[in-house]
Amino acid sequence: MSQLDKDIISMRDLSKDQVTGILERARYMDERLKARDPPRSLAGRMIASLFFEPSTRTRLSFETAAKCMGGMVTGFSSPKGTSVEKGETLSDTVRTVEQYADAIVMRHPFEGAARLASEAVSIPVVNGGDGSNQHPTQTLLDLYTIWKHKGTFDLKVALVGDLKHARTTRSLAYALGMFGADIALVAPKGLEMSTEVVDEVRQQWGTNITHAHDPATSLGDVDAAYVVRIQKERFADPLELKRLQRSYRITKDTLASLKSDAIIMHPLPRVDEVETSVDQSDHAVYFDQAYNGVPVRMAVLEMLINGGDA
Ligand code: NCD
Repeated sequence: MSQLDKDIISMRDLSKDQVTGILERARYMDERLKARDPPRSLAGRMIASLFFEPSTRTRLSFETAAKCMGGMVTGFSSPKGTSVEKGETLSDTVRTVEQYADAIVMRHPFEGAARLASEAVSIPVVNGGDGSNQHPTQTLLDLYTIWKHKGTFDLKVALVGDLKHARTTRSLAYALGMFGADIALVAPKGLEMSTEVVDEVRQQWGTNITHAHDPATSLGDVDAAYVVRIQKERFADPLELKRLQRSYRITKDTLASLKSDAIIMHPLPRVDEVETSVDQSDHAVYFDQAYNGVPVRMAVLEMLINGGDA
């Protein structure tokens, strides 16, 4: 197994060996959490959680992960009230935070912000989402969820919804390619994944990728359907947003078309693209997926801060 590098900014920065190491360590953390005996390997360590954009799961599961391992947490959940409002640069903010903390977890609306921050400081930086670009630790917990429920990546996985703007599906498409899964892209016209991202995954991993527009008729042969909401904050044109809102929806009828052991995943938050009646079905694993954020982020924080083999 190989050690992690200083930061986790993009799935492209991680090798298959490193990802496998994280998933194995996450399984160990999961067992320790279930036994109510998490390792105290971050005792005395401070994690800075810098969220320049809204978050529920990413921020809380990182903070929970740090605290479960005996670590401490500082930071903010919105730039409101920080010196960003006085005009401070991102680089100066993170160089300041570096004086207080052993690692930074950050989310920012601008693509490339986490990379810029990582270059400004010598402590580890974890990208908790940068604009429409990447969300690598979400992908790690998504992979962990698939592995936990299906036991293999020799699968066909559908990515469903606003694939134009969702960073989670960009990161995940790359990782699914890395692990040899087939990918079905299911997006309404106008919300397709960019050809650049699709071509990169195909060229890098030789992935079998198909395209469809309607989840009602295109999920019959998939092992997992990963649904994302319309990313309304990323639309440049409000009319376009209005036209595409409610353009796809997973309903009880959709469930009837699935393989009996197919799973439905969602990074959450959900708006209206998955009917709440779906939650009761055995197909729905998205709240377990949210739980998996804790053991996976425990593994990530421990490996970045304390080193050791992935
Ligand atoms: C996602 C995100 O922020 O990209 N949320 C998350 O981290 N679970 C998905 C989303 O906002 O749609």
